[in-house]
Amino acid sequence: MAALKYAGLEDTDSEEELPPGWEERTTKDGWVYYANHLEEKTQWEHPKSGKRKRVAGGLPYGWEQETDENGQVYFVDHINKRTTYLDPRLAFTVEDNPVKPTTRQKYDGNSTAMEILQGRDLSGRVAIITGANSGIGFETAKSLALHGAYVILACRNMSRGNDAVQRILTEWHKAKVEAMTLDLASLHSVQLFAEAFKSKNMPLHILICNAAIFGAPWCLTEDDLESTFQVNHLGHFYLVQLLEDVLRRSSPARVVVVSSESHRFTEIKDNSGKLDFSLLSPSKKEYWAMLAYNRSKLCNILFSNELNRRLAPHGVTSNAVHPGNMMYSSLHRSWWVYTLLFTLARPFTKSMQSQACLPRSRARNGETATPAQAARREGRHC
Ligand SMILES: NC(=O)c1ccc[n+]([C@@H]2O[C@H](COP(=O)([O-])OP(=O)(O)OC[C@H]3O[C@@H](n4cnc5c(N)ncnc54)[C@H](OP(=O)(O)O)[C@@H]3O)[C@@H](O)[C@H]2O)c1
Repeated sequence: MAALKYAGLEDTDSEEELPPGWEERTTKDGWVYYANHLEEKTQWEHPKSGKRKRVAGGLPYGWEQETDENGQVYFVDHINKRTTYLDPRLAFTVEDNPVKPTTRQKYDGNSTAMEILQGRDLSGRVAIITGANSGIGFETAKSLALHGAYVILACRNMSRGNDAVQRILTEWHKAKVEAMTLDLASLHSVQLFAEAFKSKNMPLHILICNAAIFGAPWCLTEDDLESTFQVNHLGHFYLVQLLEDVLRRSSPARVVVVSSESHRFTEIKDNSGKLDFSLLSPSKKEYWAMLAYNRSKLCNILFSNELNRRLAPHGVTSNAVHPGNMMYSSLHRSWWVYTLLFTLARPFTKSMQSQACLPRSRARNGETATPAQAARREGRHC
């Protein structure tokens, strides 16, 4: 009886029986949903009882969960050599008793991406994340991929990008992930990336502008612009312009721009209150790395707000986010003093899973260089 009670089966009246035309299914991470074949709709609540459920425990011995080409979850029984769309754990579902909504926020600063995505099935959704081979970008890419999305890791270095892809595949060998070259310090590379993506004829539902450099010494990109400004803001700005048509066609779609709280500590206007363009890409004499970073993050927010104003009526939203203060990623790598500060702050700040940080030594040898990187090696640019 205890087992039946656990499975929610002790009540034998017909409350749990599905009306005709309904079928019970499960998502990859075990949430039960209901499909109505006549009305061609799905819902989380049981059509009679209104209860939400999830399956309890893992699959029985010999069973494996797979996803077909339409993103539909199915189950393989290796012992009896058969496949079925019916989750064998459906006999053992437990009621999902969500905590009654209160005025408190459901998520807080310590919530992880996996927690926020829990219960979501992102099959059929396509996401691009810039700078996804490490840190916040990698964690985001992994979380989206583990929930079924097709994720493109847009990285300046294919070796590091492919390494990140492998790390995600190690977690789930069916994850749909690929790395593509994108060097935001080169407008030509941004253009090539957009063309390569468009040639795949895929939709684009999520574009996360995450890549950034911080505290970098002054240097010019191949486009003769200060590198922090171009990598953190202008490269992303251009990327979004080039992909805007795909985003619109894929609506509802969203752009997320990873900014920072530090945008507050700067200004991009001159004394008369006008936008001062010389502050955006300053000369070496007028350059201060922290200010350049803060300005680029302010540009991120201004861009995201304006993008949202223009595209939201077309089903494409844009939001700028602050991920947390001094999270230990690779961001501090440009100067040992920053590394020291980030290390000291580490016990008190949000954590990133350790596998998100790639050893920097791999960056140096045996990798294909973009024109910008080649120029950098020859000392022409940064
Ligand atoms: N960590 C924090 O405390 C913090 C706080 C506030 C905001 N943020 C923001 O969070 C975002 C992610 O930072 P993170 O902490 O995860 O740092 P991270 O680990 O250093 O990640 C930055 C990513 O950007 C990539 N990148 C750098 N230059 C690029 C270029 N020219 N083209 C393409 N990709 C490039 C890096 O690739 P490589 O590995 O090849 O260099 C790396 O994958 C950034 O926008 C940052 O401003 C972070």
